[in-house]
Amino acid sequence: MGLRIIMLGAPGAGKGTQAQKLAAAYHLPQISTGDIFRKHLREGTELGKQVQGYLQSGALVPDELTCAIVADRLQAPDCANGYILDGFPRSQAQAESLDRLLQERNEKIDAVIEIDVPDAEIIERLSTRRSCPVCGAVYNLKFGPFPHEDEKCDRPNCGSHLVQRDDDREETIRERLKVYQQTTRPIREYYEKKGLLMSIPASRLGVEALFSKIEAMLAQAGASRSS
Ligand code: AP5
Repeated sequence: MGLRIIMLGAPGAGKGTQAQKLAAAYHLPQISTGDIFRKHLREGTELGKQVQGYLQSGALVPDELTCAIVADRLQAPDCANGYILDGFPRSQAQAESLDRLLQERNEKIDAVIEIDVPDAEIIERLSTRRSCPVCGAVYNLKFGPFPHEDEKCDRPNCGSHLVQRDDDREETIRERLKVYQQTTRPIREYYEKKGLLMSIPASRLGVEALFSKIEAMLAQAGASRSS
């Protein structure tokens, strides 16, 4: 029972945006390893100190550390009926580690959704992205969703000042794209062989149009929303 989804795609492809919409529609937790690391960074924890250099340079955090964090997060009660993995796994070692974890938990992944967007579009999107450092809402000053009040989060009871992520500088974006091509993109084949990959060409496809495609693909695969 439950729905377990992996969001795959280059930095800025729109994984987080779609994961948040799926989380709301299917009542599932969105587990973003990037968000977890950034929270630790903001709070100045020991883990935050450990991962700071990797995030700032656009490199991947070591597999062992990342897998341990995901294993720990999946223990939480809100993961009992499924979850959306956003930005994990990102290497062959992480994909294999997740398989072992799933086996221990007697679970399986239902779909791996790959959002495919060309690099030039990604660079354009990331330079205009703004995020809420408190609740994680994502905006875009050029493509939307736009914050209603300039640079402030729209979510009820939030209203925090929006920020540009430190790793959204062009030089770091290029490094993240390189890491994606070298280390993350190859795992699409791993999931293709398992018959789980749903790849969506998403160039110039707006947030709502992409979400409709994802929902249609999930419905075809037998997933339905719970009320
Ligand atoms: P992470 O936070 O996961 O960053 P990322 O993968 O680089 O992805 P992004 O969050 O940048 O983009 P997204 O695809 O979620 O796009 P979004 O929806 O925001 O990771 C950060 C770092 O943490 C890594 O570099 C690494 O160091 C470390 N890390 C994380 N996970 C790790 C792991 N598993 N292993 C090792 N290290 C790890 O959209 C982007 C922008 O476009 C937004 O402004 C949005 O509003 C806009 N937008 C979204 N959809 C559309 C659309 N359809 N049309 C136009 N604009 C759109």
